[in-house]
Amino acid sequence: MQYSQKVLDHFMNPHIVGKIENPDAVATEGSPACGDQVSIYLKVEHETQIISDIKFQSYGCASNIATASIITDLAKGKTLEEAKKVTWKEAADALDGLPPVKMHCSVLAVDTLRKAIKNYELKNNLSTLDKFSKETVLEELKKVIYPKVGEDIITLKMVKYVGFDNGVVIIDLDIPKFDKYRDNVAEEIKEHLEHYQEIKDIKITM
Ligand code: FES
Repeated sequence: MQYSQKVLDHFMNPHIVGKIENPDAVATEGSPACGDQVSIYLKVEHETQIISDIKFQSYGCASNIATASIITDLAKGKTLEEAKKVTWKEAADALDGLPPVKMHCSVLAVDTLRKAIKNYELKNNLSTLDKFSKETVLEELKKVIYPKVGEDIITLKMVKYVGFDNGVVIIDLDIPKFDKYRDNVAEEIKEHLEHYQEIKDIKITM
């Protein structure tokens, strides 16, 4: 697999790796695509909402370590609002790209950062839990990467229909029968959604 020099540099010498004692917020997320995990710890200046310190621990692949390293670099010194806007594409670009089958690693890093920020906001009454809706399903589908090209399935227009009614999610995908990633994509969608208590069933047609 071809990695950029930046990925290799961050993998060999990850920045700000470790754990913060008494963090203001922490999040640990796992990638539905591979099962690897990342933890992100935050210290936040309460007055300014600036991330004054951030560290990560990674339990995964080289891209997992490199993307967690770059994402913590990108977030340090930013306000929570600014840090929330960092995207997985920016993280991958900042590393001079990732192989398509490894794009989900940058999704995991960004997801974990956003979760840590959300946990801080919930703890400090700055936010409430999001109400589950069809929009929540669409947001989750934007994190499902089609491994052949390294883009998410919404951008690639592979999602023809999304419905949510009475706890049942219905998703219609446009993926040819002979596509070898077809089952992986369906499996990953389920893994992204099944932890929501609001969902009783997930029906995927292709
Ligand atoms: Fe698991 Fe990269 S995060 S393969």
